[in-house]
Amino acid sequence: MSQPIASPVLAPAPPRHVAIIMDGNGRWAKARGLPRNLGHRQGVDAVREVVRTCRRLGIEYLTLYAFSSENWKRPESEVNGLMELLRLYIRRELDELARNDVCIRMIGDRSRLAPDIVELITEAEAKTQNNHTLTLVIALSYGGQDEIVEACRRLAEQVAAGKLSPQDITTTSFANHLQTAGIPDPDMIIRTSGEQRLSNFLIWQSAYSELIFVDKLWPDFSSQDLAAAVEEFQRRERRYGGSGE
Ligand code: IPE
Ligand code: IPE
Ligand code: MG
Repeated sequence: MSQPIASPVLAPAPPRHVAIIMDGNGRWAKARGLPRNLGHRQGVDAVREVVRTCRRLGIEYLTLYAFSSENWKRPESEVNGLMELLRLYIRRELDELARNDVCIRMIGDRSRLAPDIVELITEAEAKTQNNHTLTLVIALSYGGQDEIVEACRRLAEQVAAGKLSPQDITTTSFANHLQTAGIPDPDMIIRTSGEQRLSNFLIWQSAYSELIFVDKLWPDFSSQDLAAAVEEFQRRERRYGGSGE
């Protein structure tokens, strides 16, 4: 009997696009008797580490949920603290991110942000627009439902102006009207803190994302945790509705 031909063992591909719901800063602080904003501050260190690790693992896109359209409901002091951390993060990290070939993009409602933050972000995007190794997408004042409604509105305007026929609206043309146009859908979405929901994050784009829920609170999330999530992703079989055979 002839020997079966050994098929080459292909290492499963790492995710191209990882998206993270960075949750649990408040509980991290509460557990230590600290104010919530100190939890957010600690969370920034985890952001730095994860960005570095994504470059090392060859991940091409990293989307971080930094502030949702619903987070505006929080007390003013907490919102101000989060916005201040964002200012600090961009001011401190921009040069290094630019040097490391990281391209920065923001998705979310800019009209609700302070003008100086919009300016900082616009500058960061302009300065890094030709970078390619890693695209860092910051979801800020972002809500998936708003994003979808805005895309509908723009398509409806084109139809009303006689420039588009409703029959020509496809999933592809629709996706091109979302803020994530040009960015591949996330292969994997990680949420820390043990909560198992999307909280209005990338609800269109997550149609076939692998969801990974991690019990650790965001400030405790390390590069090892990211590597473990990538390994878990690589063990999963993505079928996209097919039979998997
Ligand atoms: C995530 O941590 C950060 C933001 C939502 C901005 P939380 O602040 O939601 O922390 P928990 O969920 O209250 O622990
Ligand atoms: C989602 O976390 C938003 C971010 C991580 C930025 P939340 O803490 O706001 O979500 P819920 O309220 O628990 O759903
Ligand atoms: Mg939370």
